[in-house]
Amino acid sequence: MQIDVLLGLQWGDEGKGKIVDYLAPQYDMVARFQGGPNAGHTLKFGGKKYVLHTIPSGIFREDLQNLIGNGVVLDPITLSRELDALDAVRVNYRERLFVAKKAHLILPTHRFLDLASENAKGKEKIGSTLRGIGPTYMDKTGRNGLRVGDLDQPGFQKKYEALKEKHLSLGSIYPEVDFDLEKEEEKWFACLDRLRGLQLVDGEYFLHRALLQGKRILAEGAQGSMLDIDFGTYPYVTSSNTITAGVCTGLGVSPDKIGEVIGITKAYCTRVGSGPFPTELLDETGELLRREGAEFGATTGRPRRCGWIDLPQLKYAIMINGVTQLAVTKLDVLNIFSEIKAGVAYRIGKSETSDLPFDLCSTDLDPVFRSFEGWQQDTSACRRFNQLPEQAREFLAFLEKELGVPVSMVSIGPERDQLLVRSDLV
Ligand code: GDP
Ligand code: IMO
Ligand code: MG
Repeated sequence: MQIDVLLGLQWGDEGKGKIVDYLAPQYDMVARFQGGPNAGHTLKFGGKKYVLHTIPSGIFREDLQNLIGNGVVLDPITLSRELDALDAVRVNYRERLFVAKKAHLILPTHRFLDLASENAKGKEKIGSTLRGIGPTYMDKTGRNGLRVGDLDQPGFQKKYEALKEKHLSLGSIYPEVDFDLEKEEEKWFACLDRLRGLQLVDGEYFLHRALLQGKRILAEGAQGSMLDIDFGTYPYVTSSNTITAGVCTGLGVSPDKIGEVIGITKAYCTRVGSGPFPTELLDETGELLRREGAEFGATTGRPRRCGWIDLPQLKYAIMINGVTQLAVTKLDVLNIFSEIKAGVAYRIGKSETSDLPFDLCSTDLDPVFRSFEGWQQDTSACRRFNQLPEQAREFLAFLEKELGVPVSMVSIGPERDQLLVRSDLV
């Protein structure tokens, strides 16, 4: 009777979609517990690429149920586009996709407010995906939001109009932005029937009963721990709890139901958007990581900032999440490097620490790096852990030892089967 959790340990884009898609056949249900269409989870199989924003990454596996949990914020327009993409490849989601009635709706004016407030911040901007995430969660905690279950409640239209008017008057404090509200509203309303046509459920009962029936459930996170609203690099974060604790509030399950917590990290580190990134490389090595790793955002197409793996940051994320096993992705991206580095501590003034300071944004620190010999060979033929080059195994062993958590999976390419699984662990 437990829910396993899979989440990102860095600043997002760790490869969650790929690993969920790989693990999905071991489960009966995949449930997204937070975030919204700011996420872009890429799956690759059969030479084709699919990007999911709201729909859980188990949707391509037959017989598997997928739940969009109450902690998610949902834009009917994006959802409808995702459904079109599934229809185009004949994925039958009708009987397998469920939406929690308590999930909050992203209104067109939430996107308008996101754009207007980011625009007004100028240089200080968060680098939001402009999908309306922040304003929607603000309305949720401000107790003004509209939920999926409200769609068919009397007075929905009135509530919508009132919230829209509120947003418009709020928006008037910002400089004007280019946003065609009429057109966006038209699209939004046209997509509502699509949402109504899905199976809308009381997610908490739905999950609880599934657990009682002995179903195996995997909770899928979006973003990463360093974008968590409480523990991330505030204010350069997203607006939800991206960490394990978010599973309880985002799905309605009690903490004792949490089973394995699979934390995902790239073999290096990336970040998209603004904010501190201690091990960032602003030189040609960073450029090389971006090129080799094809580091461009799955949602916005923006180039991702790149740097070496950061162990103090990962230790922090492991502590906050209660990670029980690690999945290391994109190891193949390091194949060409003669030297690989890992940030092992931060130097602040004259002292060294491996704790994250209260405010990474305002603390002047230099990462302390440890250097490793690269393996400089192709890893695509490897099918087992022990077939990896010796230097790669040494690097992974170092990570395990430093982080104190076993590495159960290593990803060596974007395709579904380019994954090495430690059979003694999983
Ligand atoms: P997510 O948001 O955590 O699901 O990650 P994204 O899909 O945004 O970004 C991960 C990117 O890396 C995608 O383009 C994946 O196809 C790709 N990817 C995942 N695992 C690997 C890997 O092991 N090697 C390589 N080269 N690419 C990978
Ligand atoms: P996945 O699930 C990487 C970043 C944005 C911005 C900050 C706030 O694909 O890993 P928001 O739109 O939430 O207000 O943006 O968070 N961000 C992500 N970065 N991966 C994501 O999702 C992200 N979702 C949001 O770039 O810096
Ligand atoms: Mg992504």
